[in-house]
Amino acid sequence: MADIIGIPDPVVPENIPPGIDKVGTGCRISDTVTVYTDLSHKERGRIVLGDDVILLDHVRLVTGDMRTNKGAFIHMGSRIIVNVGCYLSGEGGLQIEDEVLIGPGAKLLSAGHEYDHEPVSIYQHGLTYGTVTVEKGAWIGAGATILEGVTVGKGAVVGAASVVTKDVPAFSVVAGNPARVIKWREGFRPKPSVFLRLLKRIKGAIRGLGS
Ligand SMILES: CC(C)(COP(=O)(O)OP(=O)(O)OC[C@H]1O[C@@H](n2cnc3c(N)ncnc32)[C@H](O)[C@@H]1OP(=O)(O)O)[C@@H](O)C(=O)NCCC(=O)NCCS
Repeated sequence: MADIIGIPDPVVPENIPPGIDKVGTGCRISDTVTVYTDLSHKERGRIVLGDDVILLDHVRLVTGDMRTNKGAFIHMGSRIIVNVGCYLSGEGGLQIEDEVLIGPGAKLLSAGHEYDHEPVSIYQHGLTYGTVTVEKGAWIGAGATILEGVTVGKGAVVGAASVVTKDVPAFSVVAGNPARVIKWREGFRPKPSVFLRLLKRIKGAIRGLGS
């Protein structure tokens, strides 16, 4: 018996949940992972995992009704860990690049509901869509929510329980609701642009003239 428990065994074809269209080598997918998709849709290949992707218990993958959600897809690169209880909506498109870590209970939401004007009941409105992209090497903390249309930049960190409403700059650390940049990863702070450096120098020169 293996010493480490709680990580699913490498996937065999019988273990791949129906609806996941393509799986690379070395993937581990819990048998509690579920998929909400339309198996009768003629165009498959919308939910695709690269190599060494780990989907832990009770992860939910959603493309929904693909006659309505025409641009739906979930594309994951390689060496990705999606921790327990995550909700990944690809209704408006979801791209997760290589080496991304997603903490327990995170929600990546690429769709919402229209709510302006009539009818009163939002139930009767259509969906809104916006592709969510998580770039290479980013880490999304436990319980974070990423809203539609957001890109989490390369190597960025999203703090636990953050609500991310806007794009996250590469290598930044964001936190809170709404999420704001709280710091930069050490060694990755972007250098100010030539324009800003020039502006700083001009301001310094003006201050010098006044003294
Ligand atoms: C974002 C995070 C990585 C930052 O950690 P850190 O570099 O040690 O940062 P600090 O603890 O010094 O926090 C800096 C400031 O941001 C605030 N902050 C940190 N994380 C926050 C969060 N998730 N939400 C709101 N504010 C947060 C801190 O309170 C602190 O504020 P202050 O300067 O006013 O005191 C960490 O707080 C976090 O959320 N980790 C996620 C853990 C997780 O999800 N684990 C699951 C593993 S998959």
